[in-house]
Amino acid sequence: MKQAVRAAVFPVAGRGTRFLPATKASPKEMLPIVDKPLIQYAVEEAIEAGATKLIFVTGSSKRAIEDHFDTDAELERALTDAGKDELLKSIQGIVPAGVSCIYIRQGEPLGLGHAVLCARPAVGNEPFFVHLADDLIAGNPGCLSQMADEYSSHGGSVIAVETVPRQSTSSYGIVAIDEKDGNRITRIVEKPKPEDAPSNSAVVGRYLLSGDIFSKLETIGQGAGGEIQLTDGIAALLGESPVYAHSFDGVRYDCGSKLGYLQATVAYGLNHPATGERFREHLQQVLADQ
Ligand code: UTP
Repeated sequence: MKQAVRAAVFPVAGRGTRFLPATKASPKEMLPIVDKPLIQYAVEEAIEAGATKLIFVTGSSKRAIEDHFDTDAELERALTDAGKDELLKSIQGIVPAGVSCIYIRQGEPLGLGHAVLCARPAVGNEPFFVHLADDLIAGNPGCLSQMADEYSSHGGSVIAVETVPRQSTSSYGIVAIDEKDGNRITRIVEKPKPEDAPSNSAVVGRYLLSGDIFSKLETIGQGAGGEIQLTDGIAALLGESPVYAHSFDGVRYDCGSKLGYLQATVAYGLNHPATGERFREHLQQVLADQ
């Protein structure tokens, strides 16, 4: 029996420079897609996959995230008094009973690997999810549930991957996969040039990692861009413990980029029960008027 995955780490301490000036004083994870911030989609996906301990690695100007997951008695009273029951339910259900939130500060943004290492005291030595909220994945079941399913069959670590155009490899961690060995990863390289990339399978923002990753992150030191890279920690893990690539079923939107954010807004707006029909008509009109 594989250990159930109960802890989910959300590294939210990055500065979000691709989305400035919007992210100067407010977190990019609080950008809304229709009516929910990105971080709420992230938390819902992790809870669906079985997570009960949500660990946020935060930094400066990220306090709005803590407020979002806290109760707001005054707002709840106002909605109760106004008889706005649906809205009341929508805020009360953000963190279900039995799920707890833990916040850890990453003093300086020293890289994603460092952010994950900051979560160690809260995770312990268990397997855990890492979820990057700006990679929004529409999937049913969610991407983390798909990965937890795969993990239950072979253990180890599981990383979500997606095929990207060759010329884009320098924006991602890129993996080489042994298809004859259940898609086991044999090599992982951070942001290689297209000519150096071992494939065009790119790592996206979902990981299910064995607790062994922490001792690797502690010792790898700075990598590309002077940051402690999660990719380098995973590379160090490969020789000792199996890491598998999971090609997820779903559509990914890179909401850390302006274009990806707009694409997600359109896709979710068209599917939302409150906006779908009228938004579709509006878009058709806009396109007809071009
Ligand atoms: P990104 O590479 O997207 O960086 O980080 P960023 O700062 O958030 O955004 P840009 O590229 O400047 O626009 C990937 C993930 O790792 C987290 C980020 O919050 C994001 O979820 N991260 C990155 C940290 O938590 N700490 C870090 O030191 C670096």
